Order: sequence, then C-alpha cells, then structure tokens
Amino acid sequence: MKNIKAIIFDAYGTLFDVNSAAEKCKEKIGDKWEDFANYWRITQLEYTWLRSIMNRHKDFWQITEDSLNKSMKKFEIDQNMRSELLDLYKILSTYPEVKKTLEELKSKNFKLAILSNGTPKLLDELVKSNDLQEFFDDIFSIETVGIYKPSAKVYDIPIKKYNIFKNEVVFLSSNTWDVSGGGNFGYKSIWVNRNNNIFDNLDYSPEYELKNLKNLLDII
Ligand code: LAC
Repeated sequence: MKNIKAIIFDAYGTLFDVNSAAEKCKEKIGDKWEDFANYWRITQLEYTWLRSIMNRHKDFWQITEDSLNKSMKKFEIDQNMRSELLDLYKILSTYPEVKKTLEELKSKNFKLAILSNGTPKLLDELVKSNDLQEFFDDIFSIETVGIYKPSAKVYDIPIKKYNIFKNEVVFLSSNTWDVSGGGNFGYKSIWVNRNNNIFDNLDYSPEYELKNLKNLLDII
C-alpha cells in the first residue's frame, strides 16, 4: 500500500476483545456466557445507532450500562454480577497479536491512532490497562462530534486533525459496518475478519480482508 499517512484502528472488537468481560465470568454465568456477551454487544451497538438517529446522545459508558441491563434481564443473569461485568468492561483484554503488531508498526514510524465510539476516559483506561500508551499518537473519541459511527462526522475527525487526504488513511475494523462506514467516507478500509463472518452489502468492499492484525504487516 502506498502513500499511507496514518493507520487508524477501531477499538472495541478490533484491538480489545469485547467478549472478554463476560468470558472472565464464564464459571459463574455458565454455558450461556457467549450468547449473553454477543447480545450485550449487539444491543450496545443498536443503541448507538438508534440514539444517533433519534438525536438523543448518551455517552458510550451510559449505553454500555443500559445495554447490559437489558441483556442481564434477557439472559436471567444474577444482578450481583452487574458491577463485576462493568468493572471488567473497563479493562477489556487485547487480542493476542495486538501489542506485537503495534510495536512493529511503530518501529516503521507510522502514525498510529484509535478512532472509537468510546469516551476519552474509557479509551484512556483501556489503553493504559493493556500498557499500549506508547504506541498511539492520538486517541480520537466520537465525543468530539457527539454522534456515533458510522456518521461521516466521526471519520472526519482525524482528517481535520492531520490535514491529510481521506485515502491516505488506512482504517482497520473488525466491525463490518464500520469498515463500510470508513470506506464509504473515503478511507482505505480493511476488514479484520477474526471469526469467519460474512461482509455487509453497504456499498463498499474492502480491498483487503485480514484474519488478524498481524497480517497487516504483510501488506503495509
Ligand atoms: C468502536 C466500536 C465500533 O470502538 O467498536 O468505535
């Protein structure tokens, strides 16, 4: 890939494992932990889209709590687990290859950033708890524009900050709709397809599909 001025990562699901909070409680939750975690995640995302369309913004932490409340009811999870799950969500684990990949990219002098729905405080805590703070030039939060992905206003945040062209950004996300959002905006959007998913029909096909972030090193 040529003329790359910045490599920008989605956070939740791409760098940080959104299911890791529920997974750490799987003994207590039982076999349903994964269905519960997936439901929590999709409800959380639906709330971001719905709130954006309704023009009723709440920050990502409030949305994470609201979606957890619904998911705990649906899966009949003991209310005593609520604070434990929320505490764990603040320190989600990274996927195994993340740190090494960031190290290699940084050694090649790429500008690296995060662009995420998370609040600045949440993102800061996630990055610090995984000891990744030295790698990122910027951590961009949608709170700057008060609307969630995939609004073009969000993808425009780094363009304004760096004063670069949209196609000089490589954007990586595991979330298909986020890949489409960034790609339709004008980024070189890459899909990190960790779980053999099916891509969306939203007017964008990524040129590259990677199994995990490590494979980025082969094409960059
Ligand atoms: C984020 C969500 C989309 O980090 O995963 O922005």
